[in-house]
Amino acid sequence: MTAFAHYPSLTDRTVLITGGATGIGATLVEEFVAQGAKVGFVDIDATSGAALAERLAGGARHAPLFACADLTDIPALEAAIDAVRGRHGPISVLLNNAANDRRHRIEDTTPEAWDAGIAVNLRHQFFAARHVAADMRAAGGGSIVNFGSISWMLKQGGMPVYTTAKAAVQGLTRSLARDLGAFNIRVNTLVPGWVMTDKQVRLWVDDAARAEIARGQCINRPLLAEHIARMALFLAADDSAMCTAQDFVVDGGWT
Ligand SMILES: NC(=O)c1ccc[n+]([C@@H]2O[C@H](COP(=O)([O-])OP(=O)(O)OC[C@H]3O[C@@H](n4cnc5c(N)ncnc54)[C@H](O)[C@@H]3O)[C@@H](O)[C@H]2O)c1
Repeated sequence: MTAFAHYPSLTDRTVLITGGATGIGATLVEEFVAQGAKVGFVDIDATSGAALAERLAGGARHAPLFACADLTDIPALEAAIDAVRGRHGPISVLLNNAANDRRHRIEDTTPEAWDAGIAVNLRHQFFAARHVAADMRAAGGGSIVNFGSISWMLKQGGMPVYTTAKAAVQGLTRSLARDLGAFNIRVNTLVPGWVMTDKQVRLWVDDAARAEIARGQCINRPLLAEHIARMALFLAADDSAMCTAQDFVVDGGWT
């Protein structure tokens, strides 16, 4: 059996994860709970979020807190973060994971749809970071991990709002890293490749996709949420103390 790293600096640390109810986010919740962190997660999916929190409560050093919210509504997002702080204390780690890679055609994209895509894929990352920064400043530091995507690097079509937002995430990271670095707050982008979540497999992964992955990745094995979570653990822990303003790509060598 393969053994993976345990990070003592994550024990009892308060970690906020957006989009934690399903997909990569659910694995992030599980992995940080397993490290002994105090996890709070925000998601719009009430059923999956409650089920995950209940499943992980037993035997955990700290039972995770699920706060149901639509994070395109910034006051609702901030209230959810406040609820996590109320239960688990000041937030030391923020994982800006939530997104929606909805496909859309250029000719059908209204200004309203464009704004909605930016709201779900980019805007909340800034406002969540802003809302936790005071906690991190008071604590003498913190770690913010913004989730990007290799899709725009591969010039993937069919979802221009998503790819635009994900390209912008890397700029957001660099800007915040400069402003918040003065307070020992680190900001990095974790850039996943094509991760075989249940949703991706259900919607998109057919034989043609598997052939594309085999051509693209240097390591032709399924990229899993656990692989992304292991990088997130490292970026959250003190082991990465001098890593900031960087892109950490986990894609099996595709880009
Ligand atoms: N899966 C991949 O192949 C892949 C590839 C590259 C990048 N990523 C990035 O990794 C992150 C996680 O990806 P994933 O595949 O697990 O995504 P996903 O779509 O499977 O899950 C996203 C989570 O965010 C939640 N969410 C969506 N809209 C929300 C809203 N308005 N308010 C609150 N919660 C909301 C969803 O309910 C869900 O639990 C994203 O940032 C994504 O862009 C994923």
